[in-house]
Amino acid sequence: MKKDKRLTYKKLRHPEIGNIRVYQVSEHASLAAAQFISDITKDNPVAAITYATGETMIPVYRALATMVNRGEVDFSETKAFHLDEYYPCSPDSPHSFARYIRERVFEALRISEENRFLINGLAEDPEAEAQRYNSLLKKEKIDLAILGIGPGSHIGFNEQGTSFDKETHLATLSQETTNRDKIERGQNTPEHAITQGISNILSARKILLLGYGSKKGTYLNSALTESITPDIPASALRLVGDKVSVFIDNEAARSLNIGFSAV
Ligand code: GLP
Repeated sequence: MKKDKRLTYKKLRHPEIGNIRVYQVSEHASLAAAQFISDITKDNPVAAITYATGETMIPVYRALATMVNRGEVDFSETKAFHLDEYYPCSPDSPHSFARYIRERVFEALRISEENRFLINGLAEDPEAEAQRYNSLLKKEKIDLAILGIGPGSHIGFNEQGTSFDKETHLATLSQETTNRDKIERGQNTPEHAITQGISNILSARKILLLGYGSKKGTYLNSALTESITPDIPASALRLVGDKVSVFIDNEAARSLNIGFSAV
């Protein structure tokens, strides 16, 4: 058993990824993730960070906002990017990731206006918008990329079959992804998205991946235990495993075909 300030976790031994932590419940993993992100910002107050969206991240960003409000950490000088946005998508639409980032990250963490970088889901030319965003990313060294995992073990909107060399691009969403949105979540989302590519993600100095519950456990199991292949987009993280941290809950860990280490 290890203690992460107040949160107990078990470490999972993996051939490529050095830091896989299993927390008893997702709430603990989220608090630990917030602590991890806050520590990076305290060490480097001008850190450039890529933020994922999605339900998984809600408690993480909420915990960070609480730390900001208590004056424990200051994100104002950090640079904030996001991973992906539906296309076409108005920044005021309920499912817009730009909207999510504006509300839960930019505003909640009080990031200065000049340090907020959004993907424009209404750009006339989505390929040109992907290029614009890619150039912004390439001007920076991203200190931390925060990731969730989705259908088909996608990261961002890099769906199965996407080359690991790809930079920011316009992606066509898989049937599994559109079904998740339409059937499971009742959201009428577009069938395309602009997403950071796997190459952008892998070039970050650190990567933090979060996944909770049994469904995420199956996506994680493919990514962590099957082949490293574009057919399992998150498996690319194993190519840079020494800078990757994966925080999961017990429920997700139960789907993994690798045992807990005793440490
Ligand atoms: C979406 C996004 C990802 C996100 C993932 C998990 O499809 N493209 O960027 O990380 O799915 O989302 P959630 O946490 O809501 O399950």
